[in-house]
Amino acid sequence: MNGEYLTHVNMLIDTHCHLQDFSKKKLKAIISRARDKGIRKIIVAGYDKTSNIKAIELATQYRCVYATVGYGPSTANDIKNLDWSLLEKMISHKKVVAIGEIGLDYYWNKDNKPQQRKLFRRQISLAIKYNKPIVIHNREATQDVYNLIKEEGKMLLKGMMHCFNFDAKSALSFIKLGMLISIGGLITFKNTTLISVIKEIPLEYIVLETDTPYLTPEPYRGEVNEPGYLFLIANEIAKTKGVSYEEVARQTTRNASYLFDLEAEI
Ligand code: NI
Repeated sequence: MNGEYLTHVNMLIDTHCHLQDFSKKKLKAIISRARDKGIRKIIVAGYDKTSNIKAIELATQYRCVYATVGYGPSTANDIKNLDWSLLEKMISHKKVVAIGEIGLDYYWNKDNKPQQRKLFRRQISLAIKYNKPIVIHNREATQDVYNLIKEEGKMLLKGMMHCFNFDAKSALSFIKLGMLISIGGLITFKNTTLISVIKEIPLEYIVLETDTPYLTPEPYRGEVNEPGYLFLIANEIAKTKGVSYEEVARQTTRNASYLFDLEAEI
């Protein structure tokens, strides 16, 4: 059937967003708008105990929603009180597809770098233990993030660099460690440095994300983001690479399905 075929090739996966804080009613509307725009799967990322629990709740409630769970760098000051047995239990949930977001954020907090690194290391080893991909948050900590994935990951890991915002050389070095490069709304902003990254990285290593409710793509910048805007990011990549929208949709969906081991869309 032609119609179904077209829907299939235009299908997108939002590999990273935070839908935890929307009201039930808003969420229903957001998810239905996303489906209208061809977003077939949505991965909701946790970053602390509450958001992890909520991400799993949403994944249980909506068939198209999956969850990632982890303790992000914002929880590093509380490292002694984190509930590790709860996290391990959550990692084993059938709709939890990755550990994340985890990583380092030297922009928001420069005073607890050793705690951040310890927390990150511990979760990289959990990813190896449970054979799960990792979703990386990196802000102004590229070298340390790279070193830790390399040392602790022992080349056994796959994962994605969430909201990648650095240069092509660094993107290629993360790809060599098994990471995919996740592109969000920044690609649509004027003066973005991501254009050269997109040009130099093969489509086989790119996944798409909205990071809802943040980083809303143009022309909606300044408004609340939602997964339904993901097509704007796919569009920008297609334009930059000089390939069709369908090609971007097909390949990035294939990449995300492989990374998170998502079953094929029926
Ligand atoms: Ni995020």
